[in-house]
Amino acid sequence: MAIRVSEDGKLFTLHTKDGSYQMCVDPCGVLLHLYYGKKIGEDNLHDLIYRTEIGFCGTPSEAGEDRTYSLDYLPQEIPSSGVGDYREDMIRIRHSDGSCAADFRFEGYEIQNGSYKVPGMPALYDTEAETGDTLVITMKERASDIYLRLYYGIFEGQNIITRAARLENQGQDAVILEKMLSCNLDFMFGNYEMVYLAGRHAMERFVERTPVGRAKVEIGSIRGTSSHQYNPAVILCEQGAGEERGSCFGACLVYSGNFTASAQKDQRGLTRMQIGINPVQFRFVLESGEAFDAPQVILSYSDQGFGKLSNQYHEILKEHMCRGEFKHRRRPILINSWEAAYFDINAEKILKLASEAARQGIEMLVLDDGWFGKRDDDNSGLGDWFTNEKKMNGTLAHLSKQIHQMGMQFGLWFEPEMISEDSDLYRTHPEWAFRIPGREPNRGRNQLVLDMSREDVRDYLLERLTEILESAEIEYVKWDMNRSICDVFGHTLPASRSGELYHRYVLGVYDLLERFLKRFPKILLEGCSGGGGRFDAAMLYYSPQIWCSDNTDSVNRLSIQYGTSFFYPISTVGSHVSACPNHQTGRSVPFQTRGAVAMSGNFGYELDLSKISDNEKEQVKEQITLTKKYYDLIHEGTYYRLTAPKEEEYMAWEFVDKEKSHALLTMVMTDAQGNPIPVHTKIRGLAPEKHYSCSLNGQVHCGMTWNNAGLTLNRILEEYESIMIEFSEVEKGKEYE
Ligand code: DGJ
Repeated sequence: MAIRVSEDGKLFTLHTKDGSYQMCVDPCGVLLHLYYGKKIGEDNLHDLIYRTEIGFCGTPSEAGEDRTYSLDYLPQEIPSSGVGDYREDMIRIRHSDGSCAADFRFEGYEIQNGSYKVPGMPALYDTEAETGDTLVITMKERASDIYLRLYYGIFEGQNIITRAARLENQGQDAVILEKMLSCNLDFMFGNYEMVYLAGRHAMERFVERTPVGRAKVEIGSIRGTSSHQYNPAVILCEQGAGEERGSCFGACLVYSGNFTASAQKDQRGLTRMQIGINPVQFRFVLESGEAFDAPQVILSYSDQGFGKLSNQYHEILKEHMCRGEFKHRRRPILINSWEAAYFDINAEKILKLASEAARQGIEMLVLDDGWFGKRDDDNSGLGDWFTNEKKMNGTLAHLSKQIHQMGMQFGLWFEPEMISEDSDLYRTHPEWAFRIPGREPNRGRNQLVLDMSREDVRDYLLERLTEILESAEIEYVKWDMNRSICDVFGHTLPASRSGELYHRYVLGVYDLLERFLKRFPKILLEGCSGGGGRFDAAMLYYSPQIWCSDNTDSVNRLSIQYGTSFFYPISTVGSHVSACPNHQTGRSVPFQTRGAVAMSGNFGYELDLSKISDNEKEQVKEQITLTKKYYDLIHEGTYYRLTAPKEEEYMAWEFVDKEKSHALLTMVMTDAQGNPIPVHTKIRGLAPEKHYSCSLNGQVHCGMTWNNAGLTLNRILEEYESIMIEFSEVEKGKEYE
């Protein structure tokens, strides 16, 4: 059993395959955090706490004269606020008398079968093959009738523990929630570094690491989305941890809006790590009887570095977060019109692109921005989700029919959450857009943001999407979102509740997505926010793939996809072959390498096929054959990062299938040098006792040899050249034939 509770009901030990998490209720009723790390028994680790009197650390009244007891140094599950823990708090409540205090004491616990749900938000779900276990601990605020339910979910085999929390106001008076994070983790001992994914539009998720000292290390977003700039998933690792060694703790927030993630050492060296909704621009009113749910956070522990940690996240997100028809089904190889023609589209061009694509074996045409309303550039039209029949030479049904007659499927781009001031929708409903009365709005890409907290807005959008999608045969939708949010102001909420809007926006987006998927369960949804501005675990609940970045340069993509892989499965990464010189960087990279990089994701094309050479057209056919051949290996296999950006003069990564009978190694030369020294690469994940032949040189070695001795390339790779090498299991008895 993954959840162990002591006989007195005061000690809770949560076990996963390789790790344990322990907490206890102390004599004052405070829930102390005792341990998270490599597996332990059920022994009570309370003795790890060194209790001593510390100057200027207060004592709660229950401790009486015992001055060694202080909330200011104890490791806690739910640090108190305003009553004597001077470190970062987790939940901040402003009461009706103006006081600001939150101090929780244990009330009881309950074990539930299966995984818990978080109302209105995505969370890991059970499958027929595998269910989680849930521990619910109830705490009560010491001086008010506010109850806190702490949810702990365990997926034992995947080394996953989740946390979520629900705050219920059972008192008579309204209170204001000024901060409510999802998780606080106190590590009593050790020196740590925080690893996080930072970047900017078109350069997302670069891996950075910073030592955690007494100065706080914090990342976050107040852009209304999880953002390009920081991703809502962090790792706390021991110093010196790397790809294959060291303890590391991941915290991945299942949320797509404003967030914060931080770590800081306290005066005695305890490291406090926190993650949750950003308290900046957050203020939630809880009337009597109302509740607030904090989003789920997925914790994972690895005793063998980042590689194992990433695989744990890949497994859990693939199986228990991604949903729908395409969870494991091969997704079509597509061509997207965006980088092929941008706004310069019409039916003739689209049909030409589709017919060229069909000839090469591409399976779907995706009509990107520009097909609706008055939309010849990005200054107008958003919100008017009506086909521009002049441009499209008729209805979408007609266009889609012609595309299907070529043997291709048809996909369509939308940006539902946005509105252009130059649109009929805005002229009719200016109050649907976020803007603060009396202030000029801040425009992003010359567009405003719809107030997704409004039901009428969501109803309108669902109605428009439904009408379009029912009118034609459409198998795929790309759901874009192209600006950061500000100027939030709600016409339907009272002024006192304006601090709820950022969160209500996110809940509104989830509600619309859920209703959309219920209505169109067979549609493959691709998430997008100017590429990877909303690449988070929550969005994967709705879209099993997300356009990873607006940067399609395959050399930049090596780093972007490398960083993304720290948490997110390869099967969720949208990746396309585009034109050269690349439109974002001006770099030219061989067609074959563009294919090799895009293949480590959801493969597609995004270029004008009429402009590529005959030789490149042949390569398209080969790439499609390879994509189909390696699809399962790449999407369902185990992924290994063999190099980090700039660590070697090349980048290398590998996939090994579940049966360990095939592996695929890809290498890209990123820094070719004169008179090159031999390139030698690691190999990982082969079964030690099996034998494998290498497609590069025909050599047969046992897995143990490949894993430990690696492979030397018997050829020179030129700048940006790539190579894909296959390792195939050799039948027993035929190893040395
Ligand atoms: C941003 C997306 O990331 C692009 O792929 C494209 O769809 C444009 N928006 C269209 O406006």
